[in-house]
Amino acid sequence: MKFSARSLALAALAAVAILAIGWQVQAEPNRVSFPENLDQLVHYTTVRRGNVTEHIMTTPEAIEAVKNRQPIPAGTHFVLVDYRDGKLYRYFVMEKGEGFGADYDARRRTADWQFQWYWPDRSLNLNENTARCQSCHTSQQGADYLFTAYRIPRFNGTPVE
Ligand code: HEC
Repeated sequence: MKFSARSLALAALAAVAILAIGWQVQAEPNRVSFPENLDQLVHYTTVRRGNVTEHIMTTPEAIEAVKNRQPIPAGTHFVLVDYRDGKLYRYFVMEKGEGFGADYDARRRTADWQFQWYWPDRSLNLNENTARCQSCHTSQQGADYLFTAYRIPRFNGTPVE
């Protein structure tokens, strides 16, 4: 078989374009880990929207810190367990870690929080760029980047609705 220089050049260009697109839409693995102690996290609030039910949970230490108006400690996970029509659909995870913020430039940084999402089998979803998570949660800068932490002071053992 014989290829013209032109068709080879076009094929090379197409390969580069596919690589570039792939790189753009692919989320990078980051420093977030799936919480090992998921069953020990405290489910403090439930959010319902149509067929979506979200159980939002964090560590007992973070619950105490928020109630005492103390900073949330490094090592904390917040997990949003997303159910669709009663079936587990995915996990959204935020993790705070010492120095995590240094991985991003100032425009993207959400203090020392990083974000990730996992399928029900707890494998990473690499099809979404977690910059999107950060850009929305930035609106909650005054609440340590959390949308529902304000419900924690009202939490007394039964998830706040
Ligand atoms: C368009 C805005 C938006 C985007 C994008 C977004 N979130 Fe959120 N997130 C919210 C809101 C609002 C809540 C509060 C719960 C609710 O209303 O569903 C929330 C809640 C959470 C919580 C529970 C802690 C808290 O802040 O209350 C986690 C964990 C979370 N999101 C992780 C993620 C991850 C991971 C991504 C990206 C894959 C992401 N979020 C993308 C708006 C967003």
